[in-house]
Amino acid sequence: MLSPEELSAIWTLDDFERLAPTKMSLPALEYIGGGAGAGLTAAENRTAFNRIKINQRVMVDVSRIDTKLRLLRREHAFPIMLAPAGYHKLVHPEGELETVRGADLGEATFCAASFSNVTYEEIRHIARQPLWFQLYIQTDRGFTKELVQRILSAGCEAICVSVDVPVNGPRDRELRAGFKLPPGVERANLSTLGSAIAGGAHRPSGRNIYSATHGADITWKDIEWLRSFINVPLFLKGVLNPGDAMAAADLGCDGVIVSNHGGRSLDTVPASIDALPAIAKRVGKRIPLILDGGVRRGIDVFKALALGASAVMIGRPYLYGLAAGGALGVARVIEILRTELEMTMGLAGCTKLSQISPDFLLN
Ligand SMILES: Cc1cc2nc3c(=O)[nH]c(=O)nc-3n(C[C@H](O)[C@H](O)[C@H](O)COP(=O)(O)O)c2cc1C
Repeated sequence: MLSPEELSAIWTLDDFERLAPTKMSLPALEYIGGGAGAGLTAAENRTAFNRIKINQRVMVDVSRIDTKLRLLRREHAFPIMLAPAGYHKLVHPEGELETVRGADLGEATFCAASFSNVTYEEIRHIARQPLWFQLYIQTDRGFTKELVQRILSAGCEAICVSVDVPVNGPRDRELRAGFKLPPGVERANLSTLGSAIAGGAHRPSGRNIYSATHGADITWKDIEWLRSFINVPLFLKGVLNPGDAMAAADLGCDGVIVSNHGGRSLDTVPASIDALPAIAKRVGKRIPLILDGGVRRGIDVFKALALGASAVMIGRPYLYGLAAGGALGVARVIEILRTELEMTMGLAGCTKLSQISPDFLLN
């Protein structure tokens, strides 16, 4: 683990990524860093941000910059959250407990995954910031309902239901590295489903495209059903199509997460930032949008907000931070991005999130 002094000498999220090969096993590195198929969408998530140019304004008083965000029922200090990701014990022995300590230090909201290695209740017990939950609808709907009720009674503030990986797809880097869940890295939230499923093979090899823990049979009826007993904000995660975003809003979802799963689901779907404008046009006035996929710099957060997102999530960068420095590493990743956002706002000529609009971008 890096010392606090060493962490404070890391200046970008990409530098954390460059350190990752020295901080984790090769299979873990390939699982985390890889994308779907050949990784074209994962790469495009980055390059699409870089193509967008900022339209800078000068002579604006930017001596007070405010990044506060009011999202649904909550105020957030800044519009950057930690996306759900499975299996944090792959990179830190304390797993999600260490991540949430880092999220708390960094004042960020963390969305714990269905495939966490620590139960939601244990994470909730120590969380000081809002703690969301990401749901994969299980083939066993009775179990799914029990799981959601457990999470709600633990005090969950929002649920994100991920709908973009109904079946397993190939991930070349992960497959070549022979990635398997090591012993002790189990799906703690699913433990009552039976050990074969809870701790079982992460991605069945061979020709089995189905997994009981992803729900290949999910449809809009399941969203209606979830809405009938989820009494906290419900987000649909993994939406790239404006029609799907519209259906989510019509069924009472409180928000949509515009995401291609970090390019880990279906290769050659568009970069999330390229999918955002059409979705914002269709539903942006009705429900808040969160964007994830390739956010690595404060300028990326700014561009996402200018194109209609209320907030962004980051995935891989905080896992690299966790691997490099535990909770302090996660907090450092958040601090870098948050500071860069403030710098971008000041340099671009705006002082509040509500002022960030498409006018700050060049077409
Ligand atoms: C190692 C890893 C595991 C992930 N596991 C999940 C998951 O269990 N559920 C989910 O909805 N998204 C999962 N994601 C996707 C993230 O929530 C998020 O959409 C993505 O990481 C954002 O892209 P970025 O990594 O480029 O920031 C995972 C991502 C990574 C990198």
